[in-house]
Formats: sequence, C-alpha cells, structure tokens
Amino acid sequence: MKGSSKESLVLTGLTLAFLGLTAAFVFDLWGRIPARESLPLVDASFTNTATVRLSAGELIRSDGDASGLDCYACHERGKPLKLQFDAENNVILSKEHSDIVVGHGRHKRNNNCFNCHDETNLEVLQTRDGHQVKLVDSSVLCGSCHGPTYRDWEAGVHGRTSGYWMRDLGEIDRKVCTSCHDPHSPAFPGRPPAPGPRSLHPIAKASIERAH
Ligand code: HEC
Ligand code: HEC
Ligand code: HEC
Ligand code: HEC
Repeated sequence: MKGSSKESLVLTGLTLAFLGLTAAFVFDLWGRIPARESLPLVDASFTNTATVRLSAGELIRSDGDASGLDCYACHERGKPLKLQFDAENNVILSKEHSDIVVGHGRHKRNNNCFNCHDETNLEVLQTRDGHQVKLVDSSVLCGSCHGPTYRDWEAGVHGRTSGYWMRDLGEIDRKVCTSCHDPHSPAFPGRPPAPGPRSLHPIAKASIERAH
C-alpha cells in the first residue's frame, strides 16, 4: 500500500537521523561545554565580622586572660611610679610591659601613661577634667580628648552599631572605642582591599578584567 511505504520511509529517515545524532554525541562532534571554572574562596579575613581586638570589658566577659588588668597583683599600692624617658622622649618600658606598643598621635603627643592612667590608683583611668573612670568604661576617657569623634560615636556615625533599633525589643550593641583602637597605639594600619566582584557572565567578566 502506498500509505504504509511512505510511513516506513519516514520512520527509516527518523531512525537514521537519530543514529546520526547519537554518533555525533558519542564522537563529541561539537565539543563539550567547558566545565565551570571553580571560584576561589575569598580570604576569610574579609568576611570575618569580629572587631580587630577585644576591649578590656569584652576580655573579662569572654573569660579571657585578664591578668594584665589586675595592676595590684604586681604593683604596690601607695608606691609612686616614676616614668623613665629616653633621649627622644619615649617612655622606657619595663620588661613586664614590653608587649605594649606606644604610639598615640602622629607626633607622640599622647604617650605619657599618666595622661590616661591615674598615677595614684592604677586600676582606674583619669579623664582630662579629673574624673576617674573604670578601665572597662574607657570610651568616656577617649571622649574627654576626642570630643567630636565621641559625639559621632554616640550618634552612631563612628564605630559600629548593631542589635535593635527598637529599644523595647532588645538592647542596642555599640562597640566601645577599644574594641577597635588599641589605646596605646590607636592608629589603624592600612589594609589590603578585598577583591572585586566575579561575574560568571563572559562579557561582564571581560569588562571587569579590563578595568583592572
Ligand atoms: C605582671 C606584673 C604587672 C602587672 C599585672 C602590671 N604591671 Fe605595671 N609594671 C610592672 C613592673 C615590674 C614595672 C616596673 C616598675 C616597678 O618595678 O614598679 C611596671 C611599670 C609600670 C609603669 C611605668 C612604665 C614602665 O613600664 O616601667 C606603668 C605606667 C604601669 N606599670 C602601669 C600599670 C597598669 C596601669 C597596670 C594595670 C592595668 C599594670 N601596670 C599592671 C609589673 C606589672
Ligand atoms: C589626653 C588626651 C587623649 C586621650 C585621653 C585620648 N587621646 Fe587619642 N589622641 C590624642 C592626641 C593629642 C592625638 C594626636 C592628634 C594629632 O596628632 O593630630 C590623638 C590621636 C588619636 C588617634 C589618631 C591616630 C593617631 O595615632 O594619630 C586615634 C585613633 C585616637 N587618638 C584614639 C583614641 C582612643 C580610642 C582613646 C581612648 C582609649 C584616646 N584616643 C584617648 C589625645 C588623646
Ligand atoms: C590614651 C590613653 C592611654 C595611655 C596614654 C596609656 N594607656 Fe594603658 N590603657 C588605656 C586603656 C583605655 C586601657 C584598657 C584597655 C582596653 O580596653 O583594652 C589600658 C590598659 C593598660 C594595661 C592593661 C592591659 C594591657 O594592655 O596590658 C596596662 C598594663 C597599661 N595600660 C599600661 C600603660 C603604660 C605603661 C602606659 C605608658 C607607656 C600606658 N598604659 C599609656 C589607656 C591608656
Ligand atoms: C568599629 C570600630 C571602631 C570603633 C568602635 C571606634 N573607631 Fe575610631 N576609627 C575606626 C576606623 C576604621 C577609623 C579610620 C582609620 C583611618 O581612616 O585610617 C577610625 C578613626 C578614628 C580617629 C582618627 C580621626 C578621625 O576621626 O578620622 C579617631 C580620633 C578615633 N577613631 C577615635 C575613636 C573614639 C574616641 C572611639 C570611641 C568613642 C572610636 N574611635 C570608636 C574604627 C573604630
């Protein structure tokens, strides 16, 4: 019959076409999509949200080694300390305090220990206007010399604020100055920038690479 021979012709044609395709795939005629390049993970230091140091308060709360804060474990109460200075007017540090790096201000303007520590009671700090504050409340001390930065910090535009904006839901968490600045050498060293974005799209990727 005419109809059935036409049908078998179509079927044979289709079978041949599919066999051809199979052969093309098996022998990899058009090549394969290249495997996706694996993206190197960004250095963990760029995604770490911890502050650069632990303040005295955080050290105590986290059960860290706070023995260095216990001044009278070594010092004698009532015995005045005499600071020694070298020819360049730097404080000569004793062996016990050799871990302290002193460098507050570009011209070493604030290197004298007793600009901040109370010489009559080492356990506390003394603000410029003569108020005593605890070692863990040092932000007030910083504020007594760095008024504008302190007011920025109180307003939440310097430093780091987290926690709750709606105070009735929970506490606001404002990192204290010494969570970021070492009181003895507060300047921030320069940091390498984090790598730029990586686009998977070949054209966008090429333009990012051109920009570098
Ligand atoms: C591990 C023991 C130890 C602890 C803890 C300690 N000190 Fe000292 N400190 C010393 C010694 C030793 C000296 C050398 C002078 C002396 O013999 O009195 C010294 C000297 C100093 C000086 C003079 C500068 C120098 O380095 O010679 C200052 C200021 C000072 N200490 C402040 C403090 C304060 C503030 C604390 C607490 C926050 C403290 N110290 C905790 C042992 C200690
Ligand atoms: C007795 C006054 C005084 C106190 C207290 C004080 N500072 Fe300073 N600070 C200075 C002076 C002076 C400079 C130098 C400014 C300059 O060189 O122009 C300075 C500079 C700085 C700088 C700039 C970096 C640098 O080293 O030049 C930072 C950051 C800083 N202080 C943070 C702090 C923090 C944090 C505290 C509290 C732990 C604090 N300061 C307490 C007087 C003070
Ligand atoms: C700008 C103010 C400032 C000056 C100047 C300063 N200190 Fe301090 N110091 C502090 C504050 C604030 C703390 C509490 C630290 C914290 O919260 O991390 C502290 C902590 C300490 C401690 C205990 C923790 C540690 O780092 O070992 C010692 C010891 C100490 N200071 C000694 C000294 C000596 C010695 C000098 C002088 C060479 C000096 N400080 C100068 C503000 C100051
Ligand atoms: C979350 C971290 C953080 C906290 C908290 C913080 N600072 Fe800073 N501070 C910085 C950084 C980062 C810089 C910028 C350093 C730079 O640009 O070189 C800076 C800069 C400064 C400077 C240099 C001058 C300026 O304003 O640019 C001063 C002074 C200073 N801070 C004081 C303070 C005082 C005082 C407090 C607390 C009341 C405080 N900071 C809290 C991170 C912090």
